[in-house]
Amino acid sequence: MLLGIDVGTGGTRAVIISDDGSVVSSASAEHPGIQSDHFGWAEQNPADWWIAAQRAIQEALAALESPDALHAVGLTGQMHGCVMLDAAGAVLRPALIWCDQRTQPECDWLTATVGFERLIELVGNPALPNFTLTKLLWVKRHEPEIFARIAHVLCPKDYIRYRLTGEFAMDVQEASGTLLLDVKRRQWSTELAELAGIPVRWLPPLFESPEICSRISSEGAAATGLSLGLPVAAGAGDQGAGAIGMGILSPGSVSATIGTSGVVFAATDEPVKDPRGRLHTFCHAAPDLWHVMGVTNGAGLSLRFFRDTFAPSTSYDDLLAEAATVPPGCDGLMWAPYLFGERTPHLDAEARAAFVGVTATHTRAHFLRAVLEGVAMSLRDSLTLFADLNVPVTSIRLGGGGARGRLWRQIQADVYGRPVQMLAAEEGGAFGAALLAGTGAGVWPRIQAACADAVHVAETIEPFHAAAMDEVYRRYRRIYPALHEIRG
Ligand code: XUL
Repeated sequence: MLLGIDVGTGGTRAVIISDDGSVVSSASAEHPGIQSDHFGWAEQNPADWWIAAQRAIQEALAALESPDALHAVGLTGQMHGCVMLDAAGAVLRPALIWCDQRTQPECDWLTATVGFERLIELVGNPALPNFTLTKLLWVKRHEPEIFARIAHVLCPKDYIRYRLTGEFAMDVQEASGTLLLDVKRRQWSTELAELAGIPVRWLPPLFESPEICSRISSEGAAATGLSLGLPVAAGAGDQGAGAIGMGILSPGSVSATIGTSGVVFAATDEPVKDPRGRLHTFCHAAPDLWHVMGVTNGAGLSLRFFRDTFAPSTSYDDLLAEAATVPPGCDGLMWAPYLFGERTPHLDAEARAAFVGVTATHTRAHFLRAVLEGVAMSLRDSLTLFADLNVPVTSIRLGGGGARGRLWRQIQADVYGRPVQMLAAEEGGAFGAALLAGTGAGVWPRIQAACADAVHVAETIEPFHAAAMDEVYRRYRRIYPALHEIRG
């Protein structure tokens, strides 16, 4: 059996699977809410992740007769977060996490210092507030006394690895999201680190995702109940491990996942760089592959926002049933989901959301369906960029909460204008992390073999209203420039 641990934003989840991919047990423990002392700030305390991880692991283990049944552990988690430790391994301040938006001035400084094209050349991606390096630069400028004491920089799941094993390590997929990795060569970019004024010695040793890079220490064993010496694989960021769990392993295979944010992810056999930086170009969790991904910040968040604001006592199931009573295209009503600014394709932290085309005949059901369609339209923007950059798309697999209801699945097939596939089990990043660990421990010779055994397509959904949705998409594309134009 294999254990996958996902250090998410809302909580940490532990999943134990057997080598046919079936889930043996799972448990989750919540994190306290995100701390946000100022608009746009987002911090979490790494100690809280560790408390939740211990609880989730202990609870998942309780279903086993003995912890010795486990062969290996894999880690995944929220990407990009900046955990800063001193020379003794103590946390110096709360981590600035992936959705923290305070670092636009540092992004501007980095872009001016290095040059936009040179950044894409060196690390494959532009400076965005989400990426770890920009958070370090903020600390350098605003908290020099903390910056002076930094000895190690880690991402969230790698901090949990440190607590479990005493080792510093990071995988190349996660490292791609720090903005400090030479994504093409799969090694730290000493050149960018020097230009940015960050000592490379702070960065942990790098591994490919399935590699076993450490073992459970006596402290880690005592805290969790895991066996001393149990191998721990490098793992991957949540998007990297999630793609493994969905079997997105060869050029042409693509996933569209709607969680709080929405991600369209494509495997590529070389690093495909967008000269305008609108897609992220990262190393894949499968060695020798890369991936591109487009991110919509306000995907599932759009539906949650709508419910919390306009229908707080109605269940999601009832809301989706209500939305299904309205025809595709919502009689002209559209939603632009920029509740949290936008990454792909606009790279605009100041973008704002809007309903467009409201008439007196629209009902709440129209607004609901427009939210579901607008999110899918925003994900289609990433598919449009894939086409521009000649990234092939032969199949699209759906994941996340957006794949659970029948209506949103059908809307996605209609908006993407292609059949979409549902998987027999979609367990998110922890499942993919467990497959990576099994590969590292020798249960499978390659990650491709792990996915062949454990990932199965259950259903294919054909598009029915592709032509109508094409027409809506043409109008949708005109909303962002208009919103940009009228912004104060
Ligand atoms: C990926 C991203 C999110 C976070 C939070 O680029 O920002 O997926 O990892 O889950």
